[in-house]
Amino acid sequence: MRKPLIAGNWKMNGTRANAGALARAIHDGAPFADVEVAVLPPFVHLPDVVAICEGGDVRVGAQNVADQASGAYTGEVSAAMLAEFGCRYALVGHSERRTHYGESDELVAKRFAAALAGGLVPILCVGETLAEREAGETESVIARQLAAVVEVAGDDAFADAVVAYEPVWAIGTGHTATPEQAQAVHAFVRQRVAQLDADHGERLRILYGGSMKAANAAALVAMEDVDGGLIGGASLVPDDFLSICRTAG
Ligand code: PGA
Repeated sequence: MRKPLIAGNWKMNGTRANAGALARAIHDGAPFADVEVAVLPPFVHLPDVVAICEGGDVRVGAQNVADQASGAYTGEVSAAMLAEFGCRYALVGHSERRTHYGESDELVAKRFAAALAGGLVPILCVGETLAEREAGETESVIARQLAAVVEVAGDDAFADAVVAYEPVWAIGTGHTATPEQAQAVHAFVRQRVAQLDADHGERLRILYGGSMKAANAAALVAMEDVDGGLIGGASLVPDDFLSICRTAG
């Protein structure tokens, strides 16, 4: 059985005080039955959040990770640095990184491989734009994004990783994918990974992300291949996030 994962992507929000209060509220809301919970604060808030969550039930991760192990890469933060600070997860390939910062499939794949090499569990974000969906290209886009990772990280890429299906048209828009739309893509992702290794496909946790909130979380996580959620806006409101965590358990 796959244990669901609910991860809160705080994006570039909040002050140090806000981050501490949010982490404290989520830490205090634990334990969560049959669900793993993680928070992904901005880099500079990681030490505070890790200290608050230490010894508790809430895991911590980063919103991005360098594609290289160390050296002259100004502005980047390596997987080993994040692991040393108590991170377990790192997002890679969020659509905001792909869109606003021009991150290519290849760069995302290198970040993914570097996360694994540095001891982190990458959460690979994949997803199509509205235009791609309307053109019937959803599966080919997702297949391309997954294949780029396999090309760099190898056939075992998904042995210890998480995939988040985040349709770009659903992120921050209030237009959540229907449970059936999510399930169809999740099943496709699992089938692609299972073609490489049946066991990895079976074990892979595939999160849904894109305007997931307390009101729609239950129907989404009830789908066979939806193993939790990557939550943006609703992860900034403690009661909303805690309610999603309880729903997913
Ligand atoms: P949202 O963001 O929940 O605000 O739509 C999800 C994400 O970008 O990970």
